[in-house]
Amino acid sequence: MALPKKKIDEYYMRGALSLALRGTGKVSPNPLVGCVVVKDGSVVSRGWHRAFGLPHGEAMALEGKKDFRGATLYVNLEPCSHTGKTPPCAPLIAERGISRVVAGMVDPDPRVQGRGVSLLREKGIEVETGLLEAECRWLNRGFIRRNTLGRPWVTVKGALSLDGGMALESGESKWITGPSARSLAHLLRGESDAVLIGTGTASKDDPELTVRSTWGRSPLRALLDSRFSLSEKAKMYGRGTLVVTDGSEGEEKRASARRAGMDLLAAPGEHGGLSLPLVLSALAERGVSTLLVEGGPGVIASFFREGLVDSVSLFLSPRIMGRNLPFSGDLSFSSMGETIMLKNASVKEVGEDFLIEGVPACSPAL
Ligand SMILES: NC(=O)c1ccc[n+]([C@@H]2O[C@H](COP(=O)([O-])OP(=O)(O)OC[C@H]3O[C@@H](n4cnc5c(N)ncnc54)[C@H](OP(=O)(O)O)[C@@H]3O)[C@@H](O)[C@H]2O)c1
Repeated sequence: MALPKKKIDEYYMRGALSLALRGTGKVSPNPLVGCVVVKDGSVVSRGWHRAFGLPHGEAMALEGKKDFRGATLYVNLEPCSHTGKTPPCAPLIAERGISRVVAGMVDPDPRVQGRGVSLLREKGIEVETGLLEAECRWLNRGFIRRNTLGRPWVTVKGALSLDGGMALESGESKWITGPSARSLAHLLRGESDAVLIGTGTASKDDPELTVRSTWGRSPLRALLDSRFSLSEKAKMYGRGTLVVTDGSEGEEKRASARRAGMDLLAAPGEHGGLSLPLVLSALAERGVSTLLVEGGPGVIASFFREGLVDSVSLFLSPRIMGRNLPFSGDLSFSSMGETIMLKNASVKEVGEDFLIEGVPACSPAL
């Protein structure tokens, strides 16, 4: 018995989605794109965007001399209509004789936003959009946030004891979780465009914030440090670090940081401290679509207080730490109704620990 057309379309779109995933950590600030071309019931070509600056998924799938006339092209994102680092995909699809395009979602990039679909239709190509749209939007959640809200997708990551502690009262936090959880945390880093901590974590832990013990490129390191107290001996002092201050540090400090290859940003808050919205928009301007907040309770509480957390990845150790620095810092609510509930929460075993992930109900819809 033949499968319904929608089921067949979904099957190939899932193929495009899994191809797109291969570009994770390599294509940003571009979106993840995978593409499957089907002719006479068989897959004749596949492609995906491998890395920033390389051909888009559709262009890779349409390379070579194959006869694509009459084929259907499945792609998780609307084909682009503008020239960026590479030529636009929509005219190429028309040139290669594709007769039907199934796209998972319209591209939120203001340079595209439906223009790719219009161009294809003008060329007489049948176009459908919105197949497995929720999955397609989730895959490119960072790209969508940056293009629609002008900020990255923000994930809070932390290692917690069963009683919710991020460190002992003394500040000691090495190590709450085991090696498997720590390796997975490095993988999350490798998938992110930037990681962010506050000066409390920088001074207590002196982290490198690079990707080690797994694959992936090291992300941009962002530090919230109002008075620029980071020691020149700190592991993150140097190239690849953005220090956010209130702008009050002297010119001498600024000059030596720049000599060390660091990037500086002044983002004073209206009521003292630093402004997280300013930090996030500056990161988005630098092409950051996904941000991993790896700070301590001070920074984490601020992100929650300002409703700027889109997802959490919490590694929970089956360990009781007693009096501790609680994960949610000084967050405080006067009723259960105000507390932060996670949607679509999931739990996974990771070695001797558990990874709990979810999306706070207050995170704006994708
Ligand atoms: N278990 C884990 O996963 C984990 C992860 C990270 C840290 N930790 C532990 O957490 C402890 C450090 O906690 P912490 O809260 O001091 O570290 P933190 O959250 O990384 O840093 C807090 C500091 O960031 C600066 N900051 C600037 N702008 C801010 C803003 N808008 N909101 C909040 N903070 C802002 C403030 O210092 P200025 O006013 O000087 O700018 C503030 O004191 C350490 O013991 C560390 O080991 C544990």
